[in-house]
Amino acid sequence: MEPAIEIEPARFGRDLSEIEALIESVEGVDGHRPIGERKAIGLTRDPKLIGLVGRAEGKVVAFVALTPASSEWWVMEMAIAPGHRQHKHYRRLFEAAVEEASRRGGKALRAWLFHPGLARAAVREGFNEERQLFKMEHHGFISAPAAYPPGIEVKAFRPGKDEPDLLRLNNEAFGIHPENGAWTRDELALRMERDWFDPEMVLMAWRGTDLVGFNWLKVGDSEGEIYVIAVAPQLQGQGLGRALVMDGLVRLEKAGVDKAFLYVDADNQPALHLYRDLGFYVDHVDRSFVRFV
Ligand SMILES: CC(C)(COP(=O)(O)OP(=O)(O)OC[C@H]1O[C@@H](n2cnc3c(N)ncnc32)[C@H](O)[C@@H]1OP(=O)(O)O)[C@@H](O)C(=O)NCCC(=O)NCCS
Repeated sequence: MEPAIEIEPARFGRDLSEIEALIESVEGVDGHRPIGERKAIGLTRDPKLIGLVGRAEGKVVAFVALTPASSEWWVMEMAIAPGHRQHKHYRRLFEAAVEEASRRGGKALRAWLFHPGLARAAVREGFNEERQLFKMEHHGFISAPAAYPPGIEVKAFRPGKDEPDLLRLNNEAFGIHPENGAWTRDELALRMERDWFDPEMVLMAWRGTDLVGFNWLKVGDSEGEIYVIAVAPQLQGQGLGRALVMDGLVRLEKAGVDKAFLYVDADNQPALHLYRDLGFYVDHVDRSFVRFV
């Protein structure tokens, strides 16, 4: 008989390596990280992040990451080991997450899920589908050099100097976007502390002394990511975004990766139009689901 799983609050001091190993193994099997970057960074650093672990015979086989997005909204993601993907476990994990969010004053819970089984389970547990995020990939790169609009000069990011300009432009371009919008200096600093951060791979497009666009690239072992890209609202639609993406692809190829990828909201028509035109295709879809608690 399949062992039951015991759900309890995660104690990161004790459970962190088991949780990280679970996330890695789920990514290995599903080809996709179950816990998004904001929460993965927060595992050790974010005091607001609440974890729940599911144990079978003492071993961590499930992990739920819960964070408050505001006083009333909580966000969750879930990793569950392949041998334990059963309705009864899904149900108990969702119930535990709902209970925890409610106990902490949450009124609504948003779950980010990419696994179809988990998505079906969420709907059965009373969640409604809300948003879709495409992971788009690009193979083969491009041969044409980027043609920047006249008057644009591209430089690498200068740590200690360019942070305010990048934050201002990012927040102007993304507005209240849930992951990219309203970044604070601290959030930027957390990303710049990551071992993959390379200021040379943050392409900053200047028009005189005004930062008008940037393409922040992230180089992994075999993949490169267009991590965040933005063009100043008053300059959008004039070809700067296209040039930044093309330049980014050329630089990622030079950095030796085999493919490039990015995440984009399914309803971001300008961005989708551009990426598709440059040869990106949708690899998979992450979905968010919402339930009042
Ligand atoms: C996405 C973004 C970087 C594109 O930059 P941009 O400078 O506006 O892009 P370009 O001017 O190079 O336009 C690229 C293509 O998109 C098309 N496009 C621009 N605005 C569009 C719109 N509102 N609807 C449909 N297509 C649009 C352009 O027509 C162009 O295609 P074309 O060359 O065939 O004419 C920019 O819109 C932006 O910063 N958006 C806000 C932040 C964001 O969403 N970032 C991407 C997250 S993944």
